Amino acid sequence: MERIQKTVETYLPRIVEERSIPSRFGEAISYALGGKGKRIRPFLFLQAFTMYSSREEKALPFACAIEAIHTYSLVHDDLPVMDDDDFRRGRLTAHRVYGEANALLVGDALLTVACELMTSTGKDFPPRTVQKAMEVVLKASGPEGMVGGQYLDLKGEGRKLELFQLEEIHRSKTGALITASLLSGGILGEAPEEDLEALRTYGEELGLLFQITDDLLDVVGDPEKTGKAGKKDAELGKSTYPGLLGIKGAREKAEERRLFAEKAAGKLGKKGKIFIELANFVYYRDR
Ligand code: IPE
Ligand code: IPE
Ligand code: MG
Ligand code: MG
Ligand code: MG
Repeated sequence: MERIQKTVETYLPRIVEERSIPSRFGEAISYALGGKGKRIRPFLFLQAFTMYSSREEKALPFACAIEAIHTYSLVHDDLPVMDDDDFRRGRLTAHRVYGEANALLVGDALLTVACELMTSTGKDFPPRTVQKAMEVVLKASGPEGMVGGQYLDLKGEGRKLELFQLEEIHRSKTGALITASLLSGGILGEAPEEDLEALRTYGEELGLLFQITDDLLDVVGDPEKTGKAGKKDAELGKSTYPGLLGIKGAREKAEERRLFAEKAAGKLGKKGKIFIELANFVYYRDR
């Protein structure tokens, strides 16, 4: 994981360096992309991809496009009109440093550059394959996926949701992009259909596990490690797993998801082992 993290973090600055962007704006974009991000989504993408192809270097722009989309979602998520957060990735949020309007534009820039990056892989992979992988990522990021989930998340503030409603929000706001990272990696690597199915199921379970642990860390996490303020969900009146089920109940749900994720990863045979380890990592994570 550390090797891929490094590879991704070496590529990300090029997003700004290789474009003529007004200097202070470029700085704001780099700032948002930087900090202590875990880079889980590009990791998932590249792990899925390299199960079927050895051309990691050529797929790297696509991996970083997914990280750019994720980063834009964080920049917007932190804005005062959304979750109003001052800390992210161990430092001040982008709008706290560059102002709200600029942070809004940073998000816009990251989303459009992500499309450019994905499209650019069309010179190294069959265009139809790139198109399919892009469709998966863009659909998962939009109103039927992440953005739709963010909408429901905000709409749910101050209301006590039923567990099934909360699960639906988690599936879309977080699970969709995590699933798409795995699936698009498999697609770009030309994985067989049954493996794509296993990657999808694994991704859905991992996505839910990831957001349950995110909710748990908001309550019990150490801000030094998470890089976020913590104790914010209750303040904003968000429904969460620990809020609805208590810490113990939420941990049990996380455990269930981990077991389902491991089962799905098992369908990938020996090459799925890394995904079993990753589900464990997410279950036990402290950041
Ligand atoms: C935080 O994502 C937002 C969620 C979808 C839960 P991460 O926990 O992956 O954030 P970074 O990228 O590591 O900062
Ligand atoms: C965010 O969920 C999901 C996104 C799509 C950004 P949260 O609002 O719980 O994420 P954090 O806790 O601020 O990272
Ligand atoms: Mg939010
Ligand atoms: Mg938030
Ligand atoms: Mg959270």
